[in-house]
This record gives sequence, structure tokens and C-alpha cells, in this order.
Amino acid sequence: MEKDNYSKELEVAVRVVHMACALCIRVQERLLSTSAEHVKAKDDDSPVTVADWSVQATVSWLLSDIFGSQRVSIVAEEDTKAISGVDSEGLLEAVVNTVNESLASAPKYGLQSPEETLGTSEILSAISWCSSTGGPTGRHWILDPVDGTLGFVRGDQYAVALALIEDGQVVLGVLGCPNYPTNKEWLNYQHQISQTTSQLSPRTTDAWEKGCVLYARKGSGKAWMQPLICEDKMLEWPNYARLIQVSSIDDPALATFCEPVEKANSNHSFTAGLAYSVGLRNQPMRVHSMVKYAAIARGDAEIFMKFAKSGYKEKIWDHAAGVIIIEEAGGVVTDAGGRPLDFSRGVYLEGLDRGIIACSGVTLHEKIIGAVYASWDSSNL
Ligand SMILES: *[C@@H]1O[C@H](CO)[C@@H](O)[C@H](O)[C@H]1NC(C)=O
Ligand SMILES: *[C@@H]1O[C@H](CO)[C@@H](O)[C@H](O)[C@H]1NC(C)=O
Repeated sequence: MEKDNYSKELEVAVRVVHMACALCIRVQERLLSTSAEHVKAKDDDSPVTVADWSVQATVSWLLSDIFGSQRVSIVAEEDTKAISGVDSEGLLEAVVNTVNESLASAPKYGLQSPEETLGTSEILSAISWCSSTGGPTGRHWILDPVDGTLGFVRGDQYAVALALIEDGQVVLGVLGCPNYPTNKEWLNYQHQISQTTSQLSPRTTDAWEKGCVLYARKGSGKAWMQPLICEDKMLEWPNYARLIQVSSIDDPALATFCEPVEKANSNHSFTAGLAYSVGLRNQPMRVHSMVKYAAIARGDAEIFMKFAKSGYKEKIWDHAAGVIIIEEAGGVVTDAGGRPLDFSRGVYLEGLDRGIIACSGVTLHEKIIGAVYASWDSSNL
């Protein structure tokens, strides 16, 4: 296998992410089918916990099966300490069933199921294999099983993100966005529905138009999107994929910026000030999860800005897949000082200067960076 090729890795990663998205959708459907009145606020965590651990176990098992456990290093969000501290057996049982059910569907995605269903201890070890901390050398898979837990629970945007890092460089990224339709107009439609009914609309069996999977390989200058494909349609490769590109808008007055929904994750008043000084006039598009990266990569918005509280350290799994997809789709991603993000220093984006700025092109990017310099001293971030 050629070192600079990664085509086999990319194909496997895309299939695995499609499977993981289907898993998340099933868990969400079950959450919905239990009468809405019975889903109390304090139970909100458990469906997302089941999805998180189940995706991690499934992806870990598949990657290890395909690439050999000796050679697979996985850095992922959920750690083993958390799961061994679980006092709810019901939760673990739900994970075991969800993983078995998901792995049983592997052949429909062109992947292999285990010969026998996995037991609790095997599933716990698959989760625990993901304890790598990455670093500057070697190959590391980077996984965020369910990025955007609040979005997941609310039936809004969330993502499954898988990337591969080799010698500190992101070489491929796959972003599964189960509630981000291939066509932006569908999003507005879904949004209206969810706002008027204020609850999740159960998915029909036809997930075709409702979600997408984006992916890219380093240096190819190409990024792709597939509709979220139901099971057996995944057998051929690369099925239904189409090229995506960043927006060509470089006039700030016409550009749209996205940012995290929650103020706790990014300073909305600081970005509003930046937006104003650069001449952005559209309302910000506030989106949960790495779907923001997807929005920039396929041209639904031009700018993504995130300024976390000082002292907050960004984790590599929240960015790796999104960054490479935007770059290969023609965009630019740096920290607020204009430097590339450094994925080579372990679990965190060490040395990140203030925040993250992703743009569809250099013109907008330079303007934003300039505005950060001009306004930083007067803010107290
Ligand atoms: C998964 O495996 C466990 C343990 O072998 C078993 O109890 C459970 O019924 C299986 N679930 C499914 C859906 O296959
Ligand atoms: C957010 O930014 C504003 C304006 O730049 C600043 O005054 C404020 O202190 C910041 N808030 C936090 C929580 O950092």
C-alpha cells in the first residue's frame, strides 16, 4: 500500500461512518418512539451515551478487524474510565445490543461482521482500544463518535467524525452528518418542521435526502459528498458521490458566518464585533457540532469562527476531519494568528492562538485575521 495514497483507508472510513450514522439514527428513533412525555430532561443523557459508546465500539472493532489491532491506534472522545464507572447495567446492555445489531449490518455496507456476536467484555475492550493519545509520529485514527450531543438530543445537528493522522498530519477525514440534508433548502424545511412541532420528526425509512457524508484525502484537491445511503446501496464504491466546493463569495456583505450555538463554547459578542468590523451583514448561522465545517466545505456558508474561553483547550477530534475536508474543498483553516492547526501534539490543539477561523477563501480569511488583530486588545478574552 502506498504511503501517500490512503485510498483503501478512505474507503473503509467512509463505509464505517455510514454505518455509524445509521446506528445513531436508530438510537434517536428509539428515543422518539418512547413517548415524548416519558423522556424527562434528566434522561436526556442516556440515549446519547448509548450512541457515543456504541459508535466508538463499532468503529474500533471494525478498524481493528480490517487493519489489524497491532497497527491501529485510535484517539477517541469517550474514555474507558467513564464506561467502567457506569453503574447502570441497563446502559451497558443497551450498548451491547446496539453494537451487535450494528455490526450485524456490516455486510450491507461492504464490511465484515464478527463471526459471533460480541459479548460485553469484548465490547468494553473495543472501547478501551481507543486510548491512544496521538502525537507527532505514526498513524492514528481520530474519532468523535457523536459530536454535538446537545444537537443529537434535540433532534438537531450532530456529526460522526473520523480522521486519520500520519506523522502529525491529517491525511484523510470523513464527516457524517445524519441531519444535514444534501440540499440546503431541505434544511430550512426541516427547521420549520422542528420549530413548529418542537419535537423530532421521526425519520422515514428513506434517509436519502436527510443526511450526508463528506470526505476528503490530503493533497487530492477534491472533497466529496454522498447522501446518507441506506444499507445495501453502500455496496458499490464510490456510490452517488459528488464533488463539493467552497463558496466563491468573497464580498463580506454577501458572506454568512457560522458559529457554535452555545455562548459557553464561543464568545458571541466578540464574533459579532468582528463581523461588524469586517462588513458581514447576514445573521450568523448557529449550528451544533462539526456540521459547521460541512457547511463551509460545500458552500452553504463562507466563514466559521470560534473563540472559546481563555484556558479552554480544543481537542483534535473536534476539528481534524472538518479541517481537511474544507482545505481540500478549496478553503482555508487557521488559528486566529493565521497559523495552521497543529494536530501533532497529542489530544489537544496545543499552541492554538486564541481561536479558529475557517473561510471559503483567502480574501475573507485575511480580512477576518486583520480584524482579530485590530480588535483583540480591546476585548477581555
Ligand atoms: C448481542 O450479544 C449479546 C451477548 O452475546 C446478546 O445477549 C444479545 O442478545 C446480542 N444482541 C443482538 C442484537 O444480537
Ligand atoms: C466576550 O467578548 C467581549 C467583547 O470582545 C468581552 O468584553 C467579553 O469579556 C468576552 N466574554 C467572555 C466571557 O470572555
